[in-house]
Amino acid sequence: MSAESFQRESSEFTNPNLEVLLTEEQIAVRVRELGAQITAEYREGELVLVGVLKGSCVFLADLMRAIDRQLTIDFMSVSSYKDGTESTGDVEILKDLSNPIRDKNVIVVEDIIDTGQTLGRLLDILGTRGARSVKLAAFLDKPEPRIKKEVKIDYCGFVIPNHFVVGYGLDAAGRYRNLPFIARVKNPAEA
Ligand code: IMP
Ligand code: MG
Repeated sequence: MSAESFQRESSEFTNPNLEVLLTEEQIAVRVRELGAQITAEYREGELVLVGVLKGSCVFLADLMRAIDRQLTIDFMSVSSYKDGTESTGDVEILKDLSNPIRDKNVIVVEDIIDTGQTLGRLLDILGTRGARSVKLAAFLDKPEPRIKKEVKIDYCGFVIPNHFVVGYGLDAAGRYRNLPFIARVKNPAEA
């Protein structure tokens, strides 16, 4: 049995609680476009892609292979303090970068921007470290919940409606990150 048919027949792919919003093929086309755009826009200087763990890992892996120039990668992990279900805007750095970003061109790579609170704070923090530039690549943009903090997305994969989605790195309670497509969770209480 090929790896593909094994995956297609597994329960995660036939889960009735999931509705595919973006297929593997649509995602591949868009990520190649973003990679070409970044390749064209960064002609000189050092480029470092900073993945925000864990959700960005799949997007980062595809995006970096679509960029045709020298680059390095690094990772950060942050937790946002929530006041109930509301993000308070405070973030704690759980894992910081391994290398300094002074004088480098930084692209922060995120899975999804929801309220923008976490990323807004993270960009503020990175902005104090002497980078030559700091830009943001987000695979998904859910603009609707963005009331408290405006975040400029320089490289956006797709704009989606205000649904809870999983796959392509995004999780529900840690699950579904390995799905190669983006799916809407019809009933989040059962995800
Ligand atoms: P915010 O922009 O500070 O509200 O937080 C964004 C983070 O919440 C993302 O990095 C995801 O980890 C998570 N998140 C937001 N919306 C979704 C979703 O639809 N599915 C899975 N995770 C989500
Ligand atoms: Mg995240």
